[in-house]
Amino acid sequence: MRNFLRALRFTWPYRRRIFASLFCALAVALLWGANFTAIYPVLKVLTRDTNLQTWVDNEIRHKESEIDRLQELIERRSREIQRVESLPASRSRERRLAELTRDLAKDESDLAQARWLLGWFQTLRLYIYKFCPQDRFETLIYLLSIVVLAVGIKGLFDFAQEAFVGSVVHLALLDLRNRLYDNVLRLDVTQFTEDGTHELMARFTNDMELLGNGLKTLFGKLIAEPLKALSCILFACFISWRLTLLFLVLVPIAVLTMSKVGAYMKRAGRKMLESMSQLYKVLQETFLAIKVVKAFTLEAHQRLQLYKASRDYYRRGMRLVIIEALSGPVMEWLAVLAVAGALIGGSYLVLRQQTHIWGLRMTAEPLEPESLLALYALLAAIADPVRKLSSVYNKLQSGAAAADRIFFYMDRRPRVINPFPGRVLTEHRRDIVFRDICFSYQPGRPVLTNISLEIRFGEVIAIVGRNGSGKSTLAGLLPRFYDPDHGVILIDGIDHREFSLRSLRRQIGFVGQETILFDDTIRNNITAGLRHVSQDLVEEAARRAYAHEFIMQLKDGYDTRIGELGQALSGGQRQRVALARAILRNPAILILDEFTSASDPESEILLHKALREFVRHRTTLIISHRLSTLELADRIVVLEKGRIEAIGTHAELLQQCPLYQRLFERHSHRQVA
Ligand SMILES: Nc1ncnc2c1ncn2[C@@H]1O[C@H](COP(=O)(O)OP(=O)(O)OP(=O)(O)O)[C@@H](O)[C@H]1O
Ligand SMILES: [Mg+2]
Repeated sequence: MRNFLRALRFTWPYRRRIFASLFCALAVALLWGANFTAIYPVLKVLTRDTNLQTWVDNEIRHKESEIDRLQELIERRSREIQRVESLPASRSRERRLAELTRDLAKDESDLAQARWLLGWFQTLRLYIYKFCPQDRFETLIYLLSIVVLAVGIKGLFDFAQEAFVGSVVHLALLDLRNRLYDNVLRLDVTQFTEDGTHELMARFTNDMELLGNGLKTLFGKLIAEPLKALSCILFACFISWRLTLLFLVLVPIAVLTMSKVGAYMKRAGRKMLESMSQLYKVLQETFLAIKVVKAFTLEAHQRLQLYKASRDYYRRGMRLVIIEALSGPVMEWLAVLAVAGALIGGSYLVLRQQTHIWGLRMTAEPLEPESLLALYALLAAIADPVRKLSSVYNKLQSGAAAADRIFFYMDRRPRVINPFPGRVLTEHRRDIVFRDICFSYQPGRPVLTNISLEIRFGEVIAIVGRNGSGKSTLAGLLPRFYDPDHGVILIDGIDHREFSLRSLRRQIGFVGQETILFDDTIRNNITAGLRHVSQDLVEEAARRAYAHEFIMQLKDGYDTRIGELGQALSGGQRQRVALARAILRNPAILILDEFTSASDPESEILLHKALREFVRHRTTLIISHRLSTLELADRIVVLEKGRIEAIGTHAELLQQCPLYQRLFERHSHRQVA
């Protein structure tokens, strides 16, 4: 529940709307109770040979005679008190005096109440004589029109209340989603791979919706329904508060049942959300890898996976449905039980004309049948809010489960910490030093061990090594996708963790091993977040990356949209757009990870020619096994199982490093082949 309360805080900025909705809920509740109370005069008119005028006259006469009686009684008591006071002092005299004073006080309070009621009836009488018809049938129509009008007004308030609540919930979710997104964006690259993106997707969609439902229920029903019940109880108390209390005995039992069911619901809700993430996972994987699925005819396999995930979801969903479906009727049954209890008590009083049950006084005077019927209507009217309340608790519990899952990510902190305020890396002009770097993705499984490397400004360093030797991992340390477990990286003599992430990354141009493009135009993919870039600059970057030519051949040139993840381009074309993106930023440090892996030999030669020019005034880290790239490098670093095996030029390594010889031989064979 703690996290649900935290989610609740997001609604606070919209408190005015919440208060407005509360006001509407109050109006609805009062009208709800009043409508059911209206049955009382209707029944009177129908069952007795009266109209409203005679009714109100009767009541006034009744009250007047009661007042007379009380006044007489009070006078008599006062005289008695005077008489007793004149007696000689004794203990019995004191006792008698105390008794009389107490009775007198009670009579006086009864008198005050009767006078107050008389006042009310007299005012009412004025209005009834002025506005109400004399005829019984007309009176009935008159009463019913008031009821119909009141229901209409109640509907208006109902509508306004829901609209207010809905807007508050949606606005709060909007803020929450943005905050969550901000926080998730700050997480490290590795934290994304740990749980999988499907988990995150589920939190942003399904969980948000459930949380929204919880909030809506809280503001909508949790407040409105008890108010409705309360107003019925209040009106019922006017008729007979003792009988109403008899009815309310069952409330604690209902509350207990609800809380038990609620705890069970929360557990079931959490499990259902977990299986929803699983479903997302299967869907996402299938759609992203659709080519693999088709090429390897994995349809049956994937179908089975989805079937399993959906069946799981169905089972858990059903558990929730059953609990929910059971809780409604159970609550209703409890409510009817309570009404029946109160009704049996009431009928006993009416039919046997009693005022006591088991020696307890229930009413001041025997109840009339109409009062009992009105009481019954009011108590039955409580059953509806109570039934709705049962689902309220359940919805709140699923909302709470969703809030827990959402705030799990809200509370997650990145391991790569952005220093505040942090130095600003404006330019890099000297060297980059890797000193004693160790790194592992999982504890106990080192990926990089004791890497020490000095790179001078303007140098081109190539990294080669077998698959999985840690090349990409090493390159990823520089833009701080993750931080080393041990050792430091110095840029111009300063620990690169002291620079603000933004300024550090602005100095780095990165072309990753997997080319990732956005579903947008080519221009926007190249400018990627840079604003106000002239067409000339974009074209120049594209020319350098050998992309301009093929872009011009596309239907809309630079404005061509390239589909999800750039699927509408060929692999080599994608790589070149990504390269243009890095070039446009004019970075001081350039990192290229297998950036020509998809290029044809001719484009590769052209690319290298252009690159030779571009790398001149910056420090470049290239991961590649292509001979032409290696020739571009001033030094080549050979990595093997996360350690540096050798460093040297192509010619030196070919002579001295057996691993390099093997790697290079294989490559030259492949290139020849
Ligand atoms: N996100 C990750 N979580 C856990 N282990 C990882 C992760 N990424 C890489 N590894 C492991 O780290 C090791 C080095 O991976 P890396 O990607 O750096 O290799 P590489 O030298 O670039 O290989 P390739 O030539 O295939 O690109 C591999 O053994 C890999 O299993
Ligand atoms: Mg790699």
